[in-house]
Amino acid sequence: MTSTLTDDRAALDSLERRARQRPGEYGAHALIACESLVRIYQSEGIEVQALQGLDLLIDAGELVAIVGASGSGKSTLLSVLSGLDVPTAGRVRVGEWDLMAMTARERVTYRRSMVGFVWQQTARNLVPYLTAAENIAFPQALAGVRRAARRHRSTELLEALGIGYCADRRPVQMSGGEQQRVAIGVALANSPQIVFADEPTGELDTASSDEVLDALRAANRDLGATVVIVTHDSGVSEHVERTVAIRDGRTSSEVVRRTHTDEHGAEQVVAQEYAMLDRAGRVQLPQEYREVLELSGRVRLALEQSHITVWPDRTPTAAPDEAADPDVAEHVPTSEEPS
Ligand SMILES: Nc1ncnc2c1ncn2[C@@H]1O[C@H](COP(=O)(O)OP(=O)(O)OP(=O)(O)O)[C@@H](O)[C@H]1O
Ligand SMILES: [Mg+2]
Repeated sequence: MTSTLTDDRAALDSLERRARQRPGEYGAHALIACESLVRIYQSEGIEVQALQGLDLLIDAGELVAIVGASGSGKSTLLSVLSGLDVPTAGRVRVGEWDLMAMTARERVTYRRSMVGFVWQQTARNLVPYLTAAENIAFPQALAGVRRAARRHRSTELLEALGIGYCADRRPVQMSGGEQQRVAIGVALANSPQIVFADEPTGELDTASSDEVLDALRAANRDLGATVVIVTHDSGVSEHVERTVAIRDGRTSSEVVRRTHTDEHGAEQVVAQEYAMLDRAGRVQLPQEYREVLELSGRVRLALEQSHITVWPDRTPTAAPDEAADPDVAEHVPTSEEPS
C-alpha cells in the first residue's frame, strides 16, 4: 500500500516536472537546437534570405548528413553553427552556448573547445609546410597542450582515421582523400564535441570519398564526436543514419535509416522518409503527392484516431467524415473503427 502511494507520488512529481519544463524548452534534450533561424544577406541593395525560419535538432552522438541544392543555405547554416556567422533572427543553442548572445571572446573559446571544422578545399584545411602529425599537433599547441601529449594524440588520431602511414608526410605528398582524413584529425585534435564538415568529399573521386566518409564515421563511432556533414551528394545518405534535406533555407524532409533484425536473425537496413513539422505546425507536402491529387490552395484536414487526412477542396458536398463517401471508408483502417 505504502509503495503504491510512493509510486503515485513519483508519477505525479514527474508529470509536474514535465509540465513545468514545457514552456520554452524546445529541443532541451538536443545538443544542437536551431529554432526559426533566419539569415538575411544584404549585397548591393539586394536582400538574400539564406535561412528562412529553419528548425533543426541534433542529439549528442548523432552522425547527420545535410543535403540540398546549391544555394539552399547549407553553408550558411554551418557557418552559424560553427560560430563564424551570426543569424539575423531566431534562436540557436549548441550545448550550453547561446550562439546569438556570445561575446567575441566567448566565440573564440567556443570555436577552440566545442567545434572542429573540415572545409571542402583540401588546401584550406592544412598548413602546407607541416607534416600530417605536425598539422594535428598545431591546434593542440595553440591550446597549450604539452609536447608529449600532442604527439600521443596525433598518433592516436592518425591511426583511428586509417592514415598512420602518413604521419611524416606533408600535404603535397598525400592524395586528396588522405589530406581530408588528416583534416578530420586536425578538426578532432582538441577533442571537440562536434565536427562540422562542409562538402568534405566535393573534390574527391568515389573511392576517396568513401574513405573520407568512413573516417567521419570513425570520428563519430570510435571517438565519440557528433558529426554533421553538408553535401550536394544525396548518395551520402547511404552512409549515415539520418539525412536532413534543406530547401529554400528550411528543413524540408528527413530520411532515417534503421537496422532491423528479421525473424531469421538477418540484419536489414530500412530507410524511411519523413516530412518535417515545424514549430508553427507547418508541413510541406511533397510535390509528387500534390500533383497526383491535384492539391493546391485550400485543402481540408480531418483528424483521425492515429493520423490526419488531407483532402482536395473539390467536392464541397462530401464532408471528410461522411461515412457514405467510399473514399473515407477506404482511408479508415478497420482496426480503428469503433466497435
Ligand atoms: N556573404 C554572402 N553575401 C550575400 N549572399 C550570400 C552570402 N553567402 C551566401 N549568400 C547567398 O545565400 C544563399 C545560400 O547560400 P549558401 O552558401 O548557404 O548555400 P549552399 O547550400 O551552401 O550552396 P552550395 O551547395 O552551392 O555550397 C545563396 O543564395 C547565396 O548566394
Ligand atoms: Mg555551400
